[in-house]
Amino acid sequence: MTSSLPKTIVLLGGGAREHAMAWKLTRDGATVHVLPGNGGIPNSHPDISATDFPAVQAFCEQHGVKLIVVGPEAPLAAGVTDYFAGSDIRVFGPSRAGAVLESSKVWSKDFMRRHGVATALSWQYRSDKLADARAKATELNGQVVVKYDGLAAGKGVYVCSSIEEAQAALDDLQLQHTGWFSFLLEEKLSGPEISIIGVTDGNRVRLLAPSQDHKQLLAGDQGPNTGGMGAYCPVPFCDDNVLAAIRTSIVDPTLRGLQNEQFDFKGFLYFGIMLTDQGPKLLEYNVRLGDPEAEVLLPALESSLLELIEATLDGKLQQTVVRQRRGCYVGVVLASGGYPAAQFPTGFPITGLDQLHPSILAFHGATKQQNGELVTTGGRVMVLVGHGEELEDAVAHVYREAGKVTFQDVYIRTDIGQRPEPTLAANW
Ligand code: AMP
Ligand code: GLY
Repeated sequence: MTSSLPKTIVLLGGGAREHAMAWKLTRDGATVHVLPGNGGIPNSHPDISATDFPAVQAFCEQHGVKLIVVGPEAPLAAGVTDYFAGSDIRVFGPSRAGAVLESSKVWSKDFMRRHGVATALSWQYRSDKLADARAKATELNGQVVVKYDGLAAGKGVYVCSSIEEAQAALDDLQLQHTGWFSFLLEEKLSGPEISIIGVTDGNRVRLLAPSQDHKQLLAGDQGPNTGGMGAYCPVPFCDDNVLAAIRTSIVDPTLRGLQNEQFDFKGFLYFGIMLTDQGPKLLEYNVRLGDPEAEVLLPALESSLLELIEATLDGKLQQTVVRQRRGCYVGVVLASGGYPAAQFPTGFPITGLDQLHPSILAFHGATKQQNGELVTTGGRVMVLVGHGEELEDAVAHVYREAGKVTFQDVYIRTDIGQRPEPTLAANW
């Protein structure tokens, strides 16, 4: 395919996902400037915030950039696509109206219901109806999930296993959010979770490989929720039958919904799915690539991401095919000791990157250069990605290498890509 896109791109964001996106787009032939980026991403511009749209615009004009690709949800929810609408700078990512699929849990649940997308039963409340929610949670014996309606940096969801836990979750919700707010109570589902992420133009979707995140801090899916401690792809048990069920019950009705409601949605669409005994159910939409899923999905993608983005913006997604590389990819997060608590020490020098086997990819999430040294600046410092013919090979390879990179109090979850294979109900 010949590309009509200018090859200089601005990528918004500054985590390991954006490092993986910049790495892939660079391999695809683009020059990528990352705003703000971080200490390990080439062409980072730490002075420019991803949500300071006038500054982003000035940067684009100065460098002749005609395409912006968005990493995280915040610039989308703040309306970056709307801001540049009508200008000659195109943005890959939905408008603010489309971003509401992620930014409002209540709105997205209503959307799922309107369009027959398979999902958990739920009940919607306003903050002045907490007593009703308490009664409902008790009626459901505490087997509920409480979801704050809004972006809460992964901290707005409480998965409860008893009436006491459900009441405590509602107490906490009340404590955390002053003023008027909405929230959902959902029936608690069970089953393995997978991430299905695609590129869509609002009419069609091209799916990347199925992947799996590991959200909890400790091995065995124990401990507090984090932004994600590691990921792998593809997922062996997510075979063609499972994918067909996901398409029929979740992906296709979503696309019909986007068309019926005339969304102008060009970007990544992420389906967070639980494979229950009653079939696949959608837990959430995100309007972006997952993090750390992107760090394994993009190395696994043989096709050009640049061409996929171009085809989407030109209305030619239909003419593209997505090719995956052979084998498996596993990404493990090197986290700061103390993460995900509100506060933990950072600023520690990182050593050993030069010792890594050349086949290992190191995507920086929270690093900066300081007095000629690379130091930690946040919780998820870096993601190391290894490849192998089989999942076990990739796991063994990446863990062998991960020990070489060190900083004070480094923490690595030990079981990424090693969950026991689940037995799925055969009667979906
Ligand atoms: P969400 O942000 O909606 O994806 O929720 C975050 C996490 O909470 C998910 O990855 C699940 O592990 C869990 N979760 C969300 N909804 C449910 C549900 N209805 N039943 C069980 N677990 C859920
Ligand atoms: N890995 C989960 C997310 O990006 O939301």
